[in-house]
Amino acid sequence: MLTYAERGDGMPNDPTRSHLAAMKGDGFYNRHSSMQATGIAALLSLLETACRTVVIGEGPLTIVDYGSSQGRNSMTPMRVAIKGLRFRSSPSVPIEVVHTDLPSNDFSALFEALVSDPDSYMSEASDVFPSAIGRSYFEPLLPPQRVNLGWSTWALQWMSASTIEAPDHILAGMSTAPTVVSAVTKQQARDWERFLTLRSREMRPGAKLVAGFTARTADVTGWEWLLGELRSAVCDMRMDGWLSEREKNHLTIPIGLRTLEQIREPFIQAETFADLVLEHLDLVKITDPCWEQFETSGDVLAFAKDHADMTQAWCGPMIASLIEPSREPAAFVAELFARFERRLSECPRPHEPYMAAVVLSKRA
Ligand SMILES: C[S@@+](CC[C@H](N)C(=O)[O-])C[C@H]1O[C@@H](n2cnc3c(N)ncnc32)[C@H](O)[C@@H]1O
Repeated sequence: MLTYAERGDGMPNDPTRSHLAAMKGDGFYNRHSSMQATGIAALLSLLETACRTVVIGEGPLTIVDYGSSQGRNSMTPMRVAIKGLRFRSSPSVPIEVVHTDLPSNDFSALFEALVSDPDSYMSEASDVFPSAIGRSYFEPLLPPQRVNLGWSTWALQWMSASTIEAPDHILAGMSTAPTVVSAVTKQQARDWERFLTLRSREMRPGAKLVAGFTARTADVTGWEWLLGELRSAVCDMRMDGWLSEREKNHLTIPIGLRTLEQIREPFIQAETFADLVLEHLDLVKITDPCWEQFETSGDVLAFAKDHADMTQAWCGPMIASLIEPSREPAAFVAELFARFERRLSECPRPHEPYMAAVVLSKRA
């Protein structure tokens, strides 16, 4: 039976694919992504294990960071990966580190961080060669069998297209409308299979891929409070005439949150999928770094601002792209996040999302 990816559903030239926005630019995401960094810290032991067990040969080694954004959160994991692989190979073996993201990503911030961030993995590296690819990872990115080690954090919850409209939530994956739930589930299944198929082709036999991305339990997403307030701020703006009902429904962020069962699904029938084995899968609850600061400082306005900035960093550009140009998207987004921040300051809670921790290996 052909997989979705092999049948070619949603191929690259499909115009619906173009409507994806990257993170807020000018290094804004780099400065406002401490929640994501907390989740990454929880993945590092899996990365270290992968470095110890991945098959490596004699020649140059390739590490790929899928959905890198502006790079700051990649510094620690890439340093860990370089150190882990270097330990097992000859000291002079060249290691290339390839960061990939959407073409609209702020790659300048990434290259700047590689040079000037005190935490840059390049600061003590020799024979390490960083580069970047601006292309969706739902397309082929590298020649066959090039990759030794893959890494991807907080990216795979994004869907490959923005075609779903939810009448009851700003996040497609948090809608409870049956037609939306069904459409999101199907899209996420297709996207997962496509990602796996494409990555498998790029991986060398014995290569591994470590990924962490937003997921959910069967009952809760962990985003109820935060995105419930964002949704309420949108509804307030609808009431105040900033947008019509049709425009409000169109304002649906193309993110779905998979359960562990949905992530495991392609591997159930034959235990492998596209020559990949699911070595590890679990659900990690992420603690809220802003809440810890708030408990110490008691500064509710700082707490609300941190969360508003962090949220705007990942979804501000997407929201702007979904607003009709005649509505002045920049002004709309500024007003939305001001209202959102006010709401957060009125009812502070810890934001504790779930992350699926996944390790895949390609059959040797
Ligand atoms: C929340 S950021 C995560 C960035 C970084 N990996 C981290 O953990 O902080 C998600 C990233 O995934 C990227 N992304 C989303 N869909 C993508 C796709 N189809 N292809 C490549 N990158 C994608 C976004 O542009 C964004 O930079």
